[in-house]
Parts: sequence; C-alpha cells; structure tokens
Amino acid sequence: MGVDKLKLAVLISGRGSNLQALIDACKDPLFPAEIVLVLSNRPQAQGLDYARAAGLPVLTVDHKNYPDRESFDDAVHDEIVKNGADLVALAGFMRILTPGFVNKWPRRMINIHPSLLPDYKGLDTHSRALADGKKEAGCTVHYVVPEMDSGPIIVQKRVPILEGDTPEILAERVLEQEHIAYPEAVRIVTDELSG
Ligand code: GRF
Repeated sequence: MGVDKLKLAVLISGRGSNLQALIDACKDPLFPAEIVLVLSNRPQAQGLDYARAAGLPVLTVDHKNYPDRESFDDAVHDEIVKNGADLVALAGFMRILTPGFVNKWPRRMINIHPSLLPDYKGLDTHSRALADGKKEAGCTVHYVVPEMDSGPIIVQKRVPILEGDTPEILAERVLEQEHIAYPEAVRIVTDELSG
C-alpha cells in the first residue's frame, strides 16, 4: 500500500519548463507529491502540452473571461479545491493574485522567482542584475503572501555571473537551477505539512 501523496495544483501561463521539472520529479515513486491539476490562464500556454503529454488533468481559466481579478481568482480557487489539491505551485504564472485568494492558501501556495530574493522582485531580473554589476544571480522558491515576490524563502540556488553574460545566457544558467530548486522545495513543504 502506498503512502498518500501531497496533491499539487500547478498554475502556469507560458513555457512550462518548471512544470516539466515537477512532472519529471513526480515520476520517482519516492517523490512525496503528485500533480492533480495543471491550470493555465492562457489557452495557448506551451506548458499545457507538457501536461497533456503526461496525462495530467489540464484546465484553462482564461482571465479575459472575467470582469475583475476577484472573480477570476474565485474561479481558480474553486477549480483547485474541486481537484482536491493540498498545495498550489505557481510556475511562471503571470497574474497578480488578490490578497483574498492568497490568504485562502496560507503556507500552501509557493512560487518560483528568477532572482535571489529579496533582490530583484518583479520582472527583468537578469538584466537588472547584470546592469548592477552583480557577481551572482540565482532563483528562489518562496511561500506566497499578498505582497508580490515576498514571503518566507524555502529554497535558493546561486549561480555565478560570468564575463560576457547576456540576460538570455544568464537566464538559461538560472533556469537549470530552477528545475532543481522547485522539486526540492516541494519536498521541504511536504515534510513541513506532514510533520
Ligand atoms: C521562470 O523563470 C520562473 O522563475 C518565473 O517565470 C519563468 C517561468 O518559466 N517565475 P517556465 O514557464 O517554468 O519555463
């Protein structure tokens, strides 16, 4: 008899490489979580194809069909609950979430961000780090709180910034670490929730 796994809803908007990393991690029978829903706010998100290829339940909740953020967030929340998820993982989900929604998932919603938070919240993290002449970049998985890209840090991975780096080259180096960091963070959160 298998032990009950943590049920994960992954929210995406685009490429879905972090989703794919989580899908791959879940293939290990010893990984403590399973994906019960992949939800995108964009019907054309490439990540939806990865989810379908893995045979996962997929759903689009198109934000354009909702008059305001509250009603969109309510619809997303309902779907997550309907699918029985214990934990929500934002993986390149490009919508700002309302505090009302975030507060329904205290320490049960996590996000991956391509910088060493608290540095470089928001967009264009890599070009900003390069412009500042930083020697190091990285990624952070953190709990989601109403304030964007804040909240307790679960995992950070660092990479060097090398001479000649462009934002694209640096993004690739960081992304490799994101794909390690996100499954690691899910393990840590699972331990926390089951402890
Ligand atoms: C990643 O760099 C992630 O840190 C950021 O958005 C990007 C999503 O990439 N939040 P992907 O869709 O997972 O490939």
